Formats: sequence, structure tokens, C-alpha cells
Amino acid sequence: MCGIVGYIGSREALTVVLEGLHKLEYRGYDSAGIASIEKGELFVYKEVGKVAQLEKGVERKGWKSHLAIGHTRWATHGIPSEKNAHPHLDDKKRCAVVHNGIIENYDAIRRLLEKRGVVFQTDTDSETIAQLIGFLYKGNFLRAVQRALPLMQGAFAIAVVHHEQPGEIICAAQGSPLAIGMGQEEMFLASDAAAFLRYTRRAIYLRDSEVAQITQHGVEVFAADLTPIEKESEDLTHAIEEVTKGDFQHFMLKEIHEQPQSIQNALLARFSKEYGTATLDNLNFSDQELQQVERIVILACGTSYHAGLIAGQMIEEYARIPVQVEISSEYRYKNPIVRDHTLAIAISQSGETADTLAAMRELHEKGAKIMGLCNVQGSTMAREVDSSIFLRAGPEIGVAATKSFTSQLVVLSLLALKFARMRQMSAQEGIHFIEALEKLPQQVQQVIQVKNPIAMLAKKYAAAEHFFFLGRRYMFATALEGALKLKEIAYVNANGYAAGEMKHGPIALIHETSVTVAFCCDSFTYPKMMSNLMEIKARAGRILAIAPEGAPDIEGIADDVIWVPPTLDALSPVASSVAAQLLSYSIAFERGTEIDQPRNLAKSVTVE
Ligand code: AGP
Repeated sequence: MCGIVGYIGSREALTVVLEGLHKLEYRGYDSAGIASIEKGELFVYKEVGKVAQLEKGVERKGWKSHLAIGHTRWATHGIPSEKNAHPHLDDKKRCAVVHNGIIENYDAIRRLLEKRGVVFQTDTDSETIAQLIGFLYKGNFLRAVQRALPLMQGAFAIAVVHHEQPGEIICAAQGSPLAIGMGQEEMFLASDAAAFLRYTRRAIYLRDSEVAQITQHGVEVFAADLTPIEKESEDLTHAIEEVTKGDFQHFMLKEIHEQPQSIQNALLARFSKEYGTATLDNLNFSDQELQQVERIVILACGTSYHAGLIAGQMIEEYARIPVQVEISSEYRYKNPIVRDHTLAIAISQSGETADTLAAMRELHEKGAKIMGLCNVQGSTMAREVDSSIFLRAGPEIGVAATKSFTSQLVVLSLLALKFARMRQMSAQEGIHFIEALEKLPQQVQQVIQVKNPIAMLAKKYAAAEHFFFLGRRYMFATALEGALKLKEIAYVNANGYAAGEMKHGPIALIHETSVTVAFCCDSFTYPKMMSNLMEIKARAGRILAIAPEGAPDIEGIADDVIWVPPTLDALSPVASSVAAQLLSYSIAFERGTEIDQPRNLAKSVTVE
């Protein structure tokens, strides 16, 4: 799971590729590397850690070149080390490969090649690609790559250079995205067109099994048997978004603060108060098609999955349509049953999460229509679904999803409203729902204003090693999301549970040093939640509650309370999550972890 970039043309290739790698660092930052050819010689340079490290090293070398490929890595096979960093070479050091994806049968290929005397240097699956191409190379570079491709199983996007062919880059894709940017006498390639958008907006995307031969003058695309294919180029229209941290110490904190505005953007012109309904823009589904929907399947991973769980609850409550919310990585292997009038909703901030893309393709093949909710225009999801709804959250740089989550909740609330108004909800109820939605930006602002008291609470609880995050109904998935946030940025063991489940086992872990973060904003289950908290208190557990202003009893039960503005149960995950984001951020800050790029993670998970 990585980002690859390539350039050939008259600019300084290393600079262009390094720039592109910076843009793709969201795909992994365990190591980075670059290869180029100058005067028939292959140069490779790698560094453990971020692209900035690589950049410094490359500057020191002072190399100049008009062709280069580069890579930023999220380790799958082999620890993050210089040895395992890409580009990988064949054992004669004639060709170099950068790879995004996983070669599932790498071990079989490796053993086969080793029997023929090929000596491997790394622990990676990716090295097998370079070794295989090197082994098959008999003077025709394109042919060697083409012969290697059908032998490799798994998902990949690759770019390969060979020192005997200094004027070309060969690339190919299978289940992983690869965009080729076409400039004037210069060509680019990347896992994500954002890497080259500032140079060109004309691009083609490689489809599965296609191979491309790129020279400075253009690109030729071939089918698996090397039959030439005519491909229409696209004009990419999405904006180039440059973001800085401004006055904030971390992108995550900045993105938490942006939420009043990002929620406002998510709502903008997407409802009619007069009719009490949502008017989602550019929806490629007619009202009749939406009216006919009998079942909804929601697919997502991580934070997006938590948004899906909340949306599922909401659509069932308000529209009475059965909703199945599925973790993409599980669903894709279930051989799903698809009946007529099933709508799939795929949710992904990045639009590049491999499991979600695979699950939605599986459903698409079985005849379901797919609606995609994502934040990135031009992403693979946005290009493949029947209809996209954009979150309009703006670029989210911190690995921890914050503003994209609340935007997902808002957009999904609008969708639930639309479905509900087509069925049983009255206009009056719709107007009431919209009024509650309109208040959200201000309510989130109110939560942000208590960031200092939250930071004080974080100081009190930061040393704890075991956290429970509990909630019921709408607060259950909110608790799961809160726990995920604390785990990923503060490296603390945080378990999210449905509060009613504690007595079925997990309560055995409660003692005087464990901390329970209790999400108490679901009014329907509030009394039950209080009973569950009494059970924790009876076992000397510490309790930090997030509760709606004015809620009874909680002050007598919890050690501390973060008060949030009350709203409808269905919308209460928004303000509660912002409070939990601030809490996790402040605990991570106290613990001195790397908040924006936590260890072992990547912003976009492009492998299974
Ligand atoms: C959340 O903080 C995580 N970074 C992660 O769980 C993320 O939500 C997940 O990888 C899904 O990403 P997506 O929304 O881009 O598909």
C-alpha cells in the first residue's frame, strides 16, 4: 500500500517525482525511494521514513536526470528498512521497479527464480516483480514486462525502468489505480493524479491487464497480448488544493476546528426547508428509483464504517428501509446475495480504500446500483460509482479522520431525510429535522470552545492504559469511533462497546485504574445508560461522561462530565464526536505521540 510516481521529459525529473511523492505520502510514510537513469546508468536512492528525508539525501547526491520513478511505502511484506524500501532491482541491477499493491504468489515466484539461481536481497513481495522482469528480459523491455504480468497474482500498479532503455517507463495496473498524465513533450504517471495536476490535467487511467509504454513524446497502451489500444484522454477538472497547518500545531487540530465550516459546506444548498426535504445535488438516481429501494447495503472501513453504522440506524428509524452495514473487507468474501431494488452505499473519505472498492465492485457485478460518498473528486470511487455525493470537507491531511467523519454524518442524515420524506415522514417532521441540522455548525463551535477544559481532563486521564468507550443506540457507533481515535493517535488500548454488552464479559476488566468514556447523548436509552454506568462505578471504575447539557443524574455518577449541546438523538453523534476528537487529540498530545502521522498507519489504505 504505497504511492508510485514517474516522470519523463525535459524538466528535472527527480524534483518532479519528489514533489509528486509528497502529494502521495497519505498512502504511506514508512520509507521512500527513487530511481533514475542517466547516461545509461541506473541510480537508486532510498531512505527509511518520510519523503522529506529522501529529498535531503537526493539533494546531497546532486543527481540530474530527465527520467525518474519514485515510491512512498506503507510496509506490507518486510519491516520498514532501507533494504525493503522501493525501488527494487533485479539481481543484475538492470531494471528498477516501484509497486503499489500486494503480489500474493510472491513466495512461489521467488522459490521458482531462486531455483534458477536468482539471488534475492529483500523480504518484500515487490522484489519478485523486478526479479521476474529481469529474468524474462531478453533485449525487449516491453515484452519482458508483458510476459511477467500474467504470472503475478494480486493487486498491483507498477512502473519499471531499464538501464538499456533510458528513454522509457513501462507501467501496468491490476486492481490498483494508475493515472498517466500527458503534457507537452513530457509524461507523468502516479497512483493518484494529484501528484502531477500542477503540470497537466490531461490524463488516462490504466484498466486491469493494460500495459503502457511511456516515452517523452507520448504513451502507447496495449492489452495483455500487446495488441495496441486506443484510449481517450480525460480532462481532470478537480481543484489543486494546497493546505498548510496555519497557526495550528497539528493538521488534526486544525481539521477539528474546521468542522463548523465543513458541516456548513456539507449542508449548503442540499435541502429545501419549505418542503422539509433534502435536495442532494447531481444525484444520478431518479426519485422513482429511490422510492423503489427496498434494501440498503452500506460498505465502508474504519471511521467511515462507523458513519455507516450511524446512518443505518437513522435510515431504519426514519425511513423504515432495512439497512445492512458491512465492513468492506469482510463483505467482499461473503458471496453477497443481491436482490432487485438493493442500493449499495459505499462510504470512503479517500475514495481509494482497496477493500471498499473491491466490495462495491462485487455488488456492482451482481447488479446492485452503487452510490458513493467520498471526499476526493477524481478518486477511484468517484469514477466508478453510479452516483457520487461529495462530502465537501476539503483536504484532510491528518491520518485520523475528523472533519470527514462529521461531514459523512451530515450528508448521510440528508440522505436519510430524503428517503424518509419519500416514505412516511411528514413535511413538518422534515422541517424539524432540518432545523436541527442547521444548528449543528454552531453546536460544534460550542464544543470547540471548551477545548481548554477538555485538555485539562486529558492531563488527568492521559496516563491511563485501558479505556472503555461505551454508548447505546446512536451512541454505540459514536463510542466505537471515539475508541478508534484514541487508539490510533495516542497508542492506548481503547475498546468501544455497546454499554449493555459490558455485563456479558468485558466488565471483568473494570478496576480502579480503567477509564470509561461514556457517551450519554442518546435520550431514548439514557436511563439504561445510567444503570450501566452505575455498574461500572460499583466496581470502582473511573468515568468520564460526554452528556447533553441539563442531563439529570450524570454528575452524581461520573467523575467528570464534558457537556455538549442537546439535539435530536440521530444527530447527537456529531457534537459528541467532536468532544471525543478533542479528548483523543489532547491525550495524544500529553503522551507525545506523532499525531498527524501515527506509527504503522497511512491515510489511505490501498491494499487488502
Ligand atoms: C480513521 O481515523 C482512520 N484513519 C481509518 O479508519 C479510515 O477511516 C479508514 O481507513 C477508511 O478510510 P476511507 O474513509 O478513506 O475509506
